[in-house]
Amino acid sequence: MEKGVFVTGSDTGVGKTVIAGAIAAAIKAHGLDVGVMKPISTGAKEIEGKLVSEDARYLKNIIDSTDDDDLVNPIRLKPALAPTIAASKTDITIDLEKVWKAFKELADKHDFVVVEGIGGLMVPIDNTLLVADMVQKMDLALVIASKHYLGTINHTLLTLEYAKSRNLRVKGIVINMLKNGKDFVREIEKYSSVPVLGTIPFKENVCVESCVYGDIVEHFRREINISKIMR
Ligand SMILES: Nc1ncnc2c1ncn2[C@@H]1O[C@H](COP(=O)(O)OP(=O)(O)OP(=O)(O)O)[C@@H](O)[C@H]1O
Ligand SMILES: [Mg+2]
Repeated sequence: MEKGVFVTGSDTGVGKTVIAGAIAAAIKAHGLDVGVMKPISTGAKEIEGKLVSEDARYLKNIIDSTDDDDLVNPIRLKPALAPTIAASKTDITIDLEKVWKAFKELADKHDFVVVEGIGGLMVPIDNTLLVADMVQKMDLALVIASKHYLGTINHTLLTLEYAKSRNLRVKGIVINMLKNGKDFVREIEKYSSVPVLGTIPFKENVCVESCVYGDIVEHFRREINISKIMR
């Protein structure tokens, strides 16, 4: 069995948090002790003098995690910008040692860790490294979150191609916010050797910012064979 999974996106705002949360909750329902991680967050909100990431809060709440915020989300940056730009605007150096340490602690503590990436695979996380380097360092397989819009095929295939060029393992793709028709799903599968694990429609009662899940976990468990992600 894998020790975890890294949920990356074909873009920012495509549903990584919603999908990572559903994976974590589905694995928990499978009987495993699961942990969650959002290594670097930007756009963190200041609440009572502390920076809080809405993504980390959502991921923790959906599995009732009691892990410390510093473990789940060791790097929190306030500007809603790319990590290295947010860091330079606030005179902060992103200390990746903190991330590696926190990941190791979570991996030692739990059976399985679901990590949500930052934007997509080519987002810089310090002067030399990209998100793809973080995936390699954690030695995790990917699930690629993608959203249904004009451009999905291109963004998804580009992400898959880059993952391949970096020798990253890809479990599959989850298409979020599915509208009518699945023609584009067949196109993605035709041009890649990676399966589309399932789809999620727009759901009125799902909102990361308000920390509400609706029936996303039940939908996910019906739609997606979670053992394909675990093994
Ligand atoms: N299936 C869905 N139905 C309804 N709303 C959704 C769905 N999926 C995502 N959303 C909403 O769309 C927005 C983006 O989703 P999400 O935060 O999961 O994306 P992300 O890829 O994690 O974004 P980021 O790059 O900022 O981390 C959020 O407001 C979320 O509540
Ligand atoms: Mg997110």
